[in-house]
Amino acid sequence: MEQTDIPHIPYAHVRLSAADMEQQSKSDHTLMMQRRSIRQFSSEPIPIDILRTIIATASSAPSGAHKQPWTFCLVTNPDIKRAIRLAAEKEEQLNYSGRMSDEWLKDLEPLGTNAFKPFLEEAPALVVLFKQAYGLQENQRSLHYYVNESVGIAAGFFISSLHRVGLCTLTHTPSPMNFLEKLLHRPPNEKAYLLMPVGYPAADATVPQLVRKEPAQFLVEYP
Ligand SMILES: Cc1cc2nc3c(=O)[nH]c(=O)nc-3n(C[C@H](O)[C@H](O)[C@H](O)COP(=O)(O)O)c2cc1C
Repeated sequence: MEQTDIPHIPYAHVRLSAADMEQQSKSDHTLMMQRRSIRQFSSEPIPIDILRTIIATASSAPSGAHKQPWTFCLVTNPDIKRAIRLAAEKEEQLNYSGRMSDEWLKDLEPLGTNAFKPFLEEAPALVVLFKQAYGLQENQRSLHYYVNESVGIAAGFFISSLHRVGLCTLTHTPSPMNFLEKLLHRPPNEKAYLLMPVGYPAADATVPQLVRKEPAQFLVEYP
């Protein structure tokens, strides 16, 4: 993937009218405000080709020096899903019974989470996102830059794109997550970044009634 002397080509920009920009930004805001993390999934199958397309969209994210330091593993095999669930629950039991601080446990209380993760088996697909701490090709190591930032942006693209087609996910981090590297036989440069079940919500799925920040709390303007 090493690219040297690449040509620069004209950028095909699509300019919207001011009215279309306003309408698009508002409808996008409304849509994105409806996104929620889902922890109860239906086992109904999902169109896997659509998920492949969404992963390709995620991989269009910007990245430090265009190193694209990510790997998306798409797991639909029930035996592997079960192994991931069991390993995640083992880590989460340790987290909930001592590894997490009292403050952390208190912060999680309103979400109603615990060490029990049946959704890792019930969701029809698990997408495990790995960050590539460095490049590795034919035993040759190369540098990657701003890996966490780059992979976080790719994850954001992924979550948004899923939401746009009506699929749900959970940004899950049953840490430490090195069991994922072992179970999925990943090379030594890859570290598990997020474990995301993907599917439709269970018919009786509920979400905590959270309050999001208002612009006055997150926007500082310098006119
Ligand atoms: C980096 C990151 C890690 C998270 N890890 C977990 C997790 O391990 N388990 C879980 O149930 N939720 C996890 N969440 C989901 C958050 O709890 C959730 O995004 C937050 O409560 C806001 O809810 P919303 O996504 O429905 O807006 C994580 C979210 C992020 C961004």
